[in-house]
Amino acid sequence: MSVKSWSVGGVSVAKNLVGDPHIAEIGYWVSDKYWGRGLATAALRATTAYVFSDSCPLGIERLEAYPRVDNEASIRVLERSGYTCEGRLRSHNRHRWDGRLRDVYLFSFIRDDLHKLGERRDGFELDGRAEQMREGGVP
Ligand SMILES: CC(C)(COP(=O)(O)OP(=O)(O)OC[C@H]1O[C@@H](n2cnc3c(N)ncnc32)[C@H](O)[C@@H]1OP(=O)(O)O)[C@@H](O)C(=O)NCCC(=O)NCCS
Repeated sequence: MSVKSWSVGGVSVAKNLVGDPHIAEIGYWVSDKYWGRGLATAALRATTAYVFSDSCPLGIERLEAYPRVDNEASIRVLERSGYTCEGRLRSHNRHRWDGRLRDVYLFSFIRDDLHKLGERRDGFELDGRAEQMREGGVP
């Protein structure tokens, strides 16, 4: 994800190598200077639309995300992108710094959810924010 050619964040799609190959985990981050401008939401929606488009060769039928239960911004990004919360996974993540186990929510998106992304063109969701990103502007 870039603004005026500067990288300000990213979205990852990691396929499940040991389990079902149609499942992938999606992750995202934005540089804190750019938080709250809708960039993560626009990037997640565009990436989700691409994964389920004919252009994507990965064969993914289910995307999963695991936000920590206190990560309200990430949960909001997922909700606004049409992801469904399937439940709370207790003691699922070990925190990188203090080593304590944290609960996360399991969110998912499947092909049947595509209508939640709204208008799509060429496999990409193109709301105002995504269009501005493509043109190099900051929404
Ligand atoms: C989570 C993250 C990607 C959000 O990026 P962003 O570009 O600021 O997200 P957006 O601007 O698209 O949307 C953020 C939403 O959360 C809301 N929000 C932000 N902080 C919040 C808080 N403390 N409590 C409740 N809602 C909050 C915003 O109001 C916005 O919702 P709205 O559009 O309905 O107003 C960013 O904070 C980040 O990189 N965090 C660190 C990495 C991370 O947690 N990644 C996700 C791992 S699951």
